[in-house]
Amino acid sequence: MSTLDFLVRKDQLAVTELRETADAPLAEGQVRLAVDMFALTANNITYAAFGEAMNYWNFYPAGPDWGRIPVWGFGSVVESRCAGIETGERFYGYFPMSSSVVLQPLRVSPTGFSDGAAHRAALHAVYNTYTRCSKDPFHTPQTEDLQALLRPLFITSWLIDDFLADQDFFGAGAHGKAVMLLSSASSKTAYGTAFQLAQRERIEVVGLTSAANVEFCKSLGCYSRVLSYDQLDQVAADADCIYIDFAGNAALRKEIHTRFVNLKYSSSIGGTHVEQLGGARELPGPRATLFFAPAQIKKRSAEWGGDVLGQRLLQAWQGFVAKVSDPAAPWLIVEHHRGAAAVAAAYAGVLRGQGDPRVGHILSLVESP
Ligand SMILES: NC(=O)c1ccc[n+]([C@@H]2O[C@H](COP(=O)([O-])OP(=O)(O)OC[C@H]3O[C@@H](n4cnc5c(N)ncnc54)[C@H](OP(=O)(O)O)[C@@H]3O)[C@@H](O)[C@H]2O)c1
Repeated sequence: MSTLDFLVRKDQLAVTELRETADAPLAEGQVRLAVDMFALTANNITYAAFGEAMNYWNFYPAGPDWGRIPVWGFGSVVESRCAGIETGERFYGYFPMSSSVVLQPLRVSPTGFSDGAAHRAALHAVYNTYTRCSKDPFHTPQTEDLQALLRPLFITSWLIDDFLADQDFFGAGAHGKAVMLLSSASSKTAYGTAFQLAQRERIEVVGLTSAANVEFCKSLGCYSRVLSYDQLDQVAADADCIYIDFAGNAALRKEIHTRFVNLKYSSSIGGTHVEQLGGARELPGPRATLFFAPAQIKKRSAEWGGDVLGQRLLQAWQGFVAKVSDPAAPWLIVEHHRGAAAVAAAYAGVLRGQGDPRVGHILSLVESP
């Protein structure tokens, strides 16, 4: 048996290669999972773009020049030399863009395990956790595509909304509505955030997007207003506002910090505009601050307890999934891509970032299901 790895050049993300390697026998304690399917969105491209700076290449090392981009999806155990993990069991977690992967389970429990590979020990626990589908309250077999595509993104969305509310929106809206400015409004993480924010009072959620994606964003109904990037002047310069930045576009950030004299907070979430990324030094207004989701999870776990946090997340997730998959007006249409050529084509499309924002891509390097 052999494994197919989809590799990208770390310094030229458009250059890719497929590598086939014969499978080595498992060591005691290891498991081999077939990576049945995974989602690919701009989030994964951001992992690659910040692969060196934020250690994303270190999850699945592939040599000095090439990297395996981490992806969220589902794997099934095809071979096990680990007590407590059986062949045929299915797990949700953070996989490489490969047909299979060898993991070294640690802390095996009824709900799952952590990968204990030495090279992952210093990486954040949230990415090293594999959840047993049979014990996972988020899991239903019919929503696996949506889980792979949206679960890690929506949890972030929920935490952004919770963080801002917890901080009383940094004083924005003390005398009226607080204006939330969301860049890359057509991205799944942004519209998940808008979905949560729109449920609050005295909040105006303004989506900023490229001209081609304005109609899509309007169709979602979770933005109070949608503007293209060149229409910033339609928001009053003295609006009490917060910038929630999914695009990472340096020029746009500068424009927003310069125009809005009552900008109360500037939150850096992502970097979808991979060609326009840049630093945030010496800008007027508040310091652009990186959003660190695990910090808010830690805070709420301490305040509410893990069970209550989990229940609140699950309830919000179920509401979001119902909305996104409403057959009368779906926010997301899933496209499947199976096999090496299809995966390469889908990757190139997501990297270019000009595809239909309504489409969510589910990929697999396993040739037949
Ligand atoms: N900090 C965290 O914990 C965290 C967690 C989750 C996600 N994020 C970040 O949130 C961002 C959104 O991720 P997602 O997976 O939700 O995105 P997505 O749904 O795949 O977003 C697609 C949208 O991103 C923009 N885009 C994508 N590629 C582009 C390119 N090459 N050039 C210009 N625009 C491009 C376009 O939006 P517009 O036309 O509207 O600009 C496009 O419609 C990512 O940067 C991700 O890393 C961060």
